[in-house]
Amino acid sequence: MHRWLEGRPTQFALLTLVAVLIGGIIEYVPTALIESNIPTIAAVKPYTPLELEGRDVYIAEGCVGCHSQMIRPFRSEVERYGDYSKAGEFVYDHPFLWGSKRTGPDLHRIGGKYPDSWHALHMQDPQATSPGSIMPAYPWLFEKQLDDSLIGAKIAAMRTLGVPYEDGYEMQAAADLKAQAQTIAANLSESGMVVPADKQIIALIGYLQRLGTDIRGDAEYMAELEALMTKIEQGTGFEGAQLLVEDMDLAAGKAIYQSQRNLCYTCHRNDLGGQVGPNLTDNYWLHGCTVAEIMSNIKSGFQQKGMLPYGSGKSLTEEQLQQVASYLISQQGSNPAKPKAADSTRASLCEAQTW
Ligand code: HEC
Ligand code: HEC
Repeated sequence: MHRWLEGRPTQFALLTLVAVLIGGIIEYVPTALIESNIPTIAAVKPYTPLELEGRDVYIAEGCVGCHSQMIRPFRSEVERYGDYSKAGEFVYDHPFLWGSKRTGPDLHRIGGKYPDSWHALHMQDPQATSPGSIMPAYPWLFEKQLDDSLIGAKIAAMRTLGVPYEDGYEMQAAADLKAQAQTIAANLSESGMVVPADKQIIALIGYLQRLGTDIRGDAEYMAELEALMTKIEQGTGFEGAQLLVEDMDLAAGKAIYQSQRNLCYTCHRNDLGGQVGPNLTDNYWLHGCTVAEIMSNIKSGFQQKGMLPYGSGKSLTEEQLQQVASYLISQQGSNPAKPKAADSTRASLCEAQTW
């Protein structure tokens, strides 16, 4: 039999093809037909219309060429980027944007890491928030109008691909899009950046802020933050903390300030001159200027304004807080170039310093 087949290459190739096809179909058909094979996660919801448009901006600008959206379950990645990516988080991504190149960091858990104003500044001038960044600037996103005339059709197209938008949502989509855009524009203007709500950058920020947030166990995380906030409001426990002056402590404080882990520099600048957050080198303070108060302010952060507890939500020990606070104080009067102006309506000058 074998000898007979080998002597007839054409028939042999055809029969092999048939055999492989049968095997393939038997493997593939159940996977495609049985819905429970698709790992959905209840907390993962379809993108809002604005986020969908922002996603299209992300695709059009080719961000995927430098950024992945796929955190692998390795310790090094989880520590840097956050919880690893689950298959069920991508069910509404058409097309998916996992990417295969990381010239820049992974973006799957970028949502909520920074305030809206950080993203706006970063897109306008990446070096402003990230000294030495090689990411290109995208100033035109602040000028180009977001074309939302096709949003209804996009919603319908997504639905045919299996995204569960409610029937008739097309009619509602444009209004929802405008409302969410207004919220982001309002956040920006509160930070002193005037950007009309109908620009492409607004949609892109909406999309970035959504990424990876659906399953972050936000309820648990928020409860934890809440508990932290109440504890802090009841008194810091730092009263009487002393200013550290040893070189070793100041160097440790500086290292924390400049670390990727706590991110202080991305909002207050490497030279502390202020950016998203206030200038920390002048003697105008919004929330108190003693070592104890500064420690407690770093611990609590200012979530409404975009600063998470400990800068990035990753905790510091009491000693570390004291080191960073002392480092900040050591930089008083360092006069960095082009500092952010003090908010004269809120900040007050600290009187004769006892820290
Ligand atoms: C040429 C490669 C390149 C391209 C294209 C690019 N980026 Fe980046 N991106 C980087 C690099 C490098 C960094 C790290 C330094 C920095 O923060 O700027 C970065 C950082 C970021 C960060 C901050 C990540 C973090 O965790 O701190 C965001 C958000 C971001 N990019 C979004 C985008 C978006 C949106 C686009 C498309 C409009 C884009 N990038 C295009 C290279 C790139
Ligand atoms: C995502 C942006 C962001 C990051 C990261 C961040 N901050 Fe802030 N920070 C802010 C903003 C915004 C404010 C102003 C809050 C306000 O307006 O009430 C602030 C306020 C402060 C204040 C109070 C200043 C005052 O005038 O009373 C201190 C101190 C401070 N930050 C230190 C730090 C340190 C130290 C880190 C790192 C551990 C850090 N921040 C990380 C955005 C940030």
